[in-house]
Amino acid sequence: MIYPIVVYGDPVLKREADDIEEGSIDIMKLRDDMFETMEEASGIGLAAPQIGKSIRMFVVDGRAIEDEGMEDFKKVFVNPEMVWERGEEWAFEEGCLSIPGIREEVFRHETIRINYLDENFVEHEEEFDGMKARIIQHEYDHIEGKLFTDYLTPFKKRILKGKLGNITKGKCEADYKIKTPKK
Ligand code: NI
Repeated sequence: MIYPIVVYGDPVLKREADDIEEGSIDIMKLRDDMFETMEEASGIGLAAPQIGKSIRMFVVDGRAIEDEGMEDFKKVFVNPEMVWERGEEWAFEEGCLSIPGIREEVFRHETIRINYLDENFVEHEEEFDGMKARIIQHEYDHIEGKLFTDYLTPFKKRILKGKLGNITKGKCEADYKIKTPKK
């Protein structure tokens, strides 16, 4: 099932998401739906709040990115906790399915260590770096109620205010189905 993607201005995107209790939801179905929704929108990551569910889960698929080690980077993260973020911060122009039409440079740490469960509720603790780390950091932010626009300077925020306001009102273009907060 393909969900519409919740866009900027919806309070679900600003909320700290709740842990998932084993057996409380059909996690395999949700995983499949999230991958399907993400693929339909040509995304490389999708967090549950972006489909209106305030729970700690996100999926990533970086296989389309031509970068070392990305060939098998398709994963599910349930109840993740960031253990640490280290290394020099580097800038990259990020986009977000919930903020269509806007891309801005965001600085993030090079390496992360994250603890998480997979879709079978098996615990893992792993380190990632570079683009993998960045994708995970971006999605992890979503379940903490944070968006990449939160990192922008007040000046940049002022410049984008009109555009962001338009997204909230549904006055934006996306080649996937979106759900706008005010309609
Ligand atoms: Ni995003």
